[in-house]
Amino acid sequence: MSKPKVIVTRKWPAEVEAQLRALYDVQLNESDIPMTANELKQALLTADALLPTVTDLITADILNIENKRTKIIGNFGVGYNNIDINAAKAQGLVVTNTPHVLTDCTADIAMLLLLMSARRASEGERLILQQRWTGWKPTQLIGQKVTGKTLGLIGFGRIAQAMAKKAHHGFGMKILFYAPSQPAKTITDNLQAIRCETIEELLREANFVSLHCPGGEATRHLINEQRLKIMRPSAHLINTARGDVVDSKALIRALKEGWITGAGLDVYEGEPNINPDFLTLNNVTLLPHLGSATEETRIAMGNCVLKNITAFFSGQSPEDRVA
Ligand code: DGY
Repeated sequence: MSKPKVIVTRKWPAEVEAQLRALYDVQLNESDIPMTANELKQALLTADALLPTVTDLITADILNIENKRTKIIGNFGVGYNNIDINAAKAQGLVVTNTPHVLTDCTADIAMLLLLMSARRASEGERLILQQRWTGWKPTQLIGQKVTGKTLGLIGFGRIAQAMAKKAHHGFGMKILFYAPSQPAKTITDNLQAIRCETIEELLREANFVSLHCPGGEATRHLINEQRLKIMRPSAHLINTARGDVVDSKALIRALKEGWITGAGLDVYEGEPNINPDFLTLNNVTLLPHLGSATEETRIAMGNCVLKNITAFFSGQSPEDRVA
């Protein structure tokens, strides 16, 4: 029997590409140049499985192409707001994602941004890189203490809980969270975490607010001007979720006008384009969407896609099916 045809939209870790070569009739993307909408449509016509990632917009227009050969879309990423899920479902396509394997590394990046923002680490590094540092002084780059402070998590899924563990058990932080449903008591007891009834209640209380909700229409600009104004003037906002959860124009005003003290961002509205005003601010820490970027995690993400499509082609239901 001939091997299923698989198209991968971007370059993946070499180990996983080698396995794909061994198991499938695979088309890899050596150049790593993102595929155009037309190329993605062509891929749906010619491949049994399409393996995109979080930067490939798989719109209804692309999915609705007639005479598709593709039956499964194995997304390389836990977030799948890049795919029009309703259109995929309507087309009878199976869609999978890569949960679990990137939980700790993404929570680490959120914690890193929290610490960098609180302790003004980016400003400090710029001082050295620009050769402006003249030596230690008692009043230089005074930040805020993290240990013992209150962390407010918006969304309380796997990544938020992993961050809560690090923050509570490692830094003695008090944990507040906002989530649509109440998690198991064992989870909240272990973290001494308190559920807020509203986002506003959390924003009023927290010294650090970290976003962990999915992207998409339902959460677009969840953090807007009104909510930024509720936060404490000494607070920091951390976003490792999706860029469009925050109204970036409102955040820039908040940072310029001192509604909050700092922000740490790993994701951006319309990324990789970044509102240039962010680049002029001293109180924002900017990372290029590094959440899952460790050797171990990226290999695990690739293996997770491989596990899902292999289950599918052996007639089983893939473990990480989202459509
Ligand atoms: C995801 O998986 O959704 C991240 O944004 C990239 O790792």
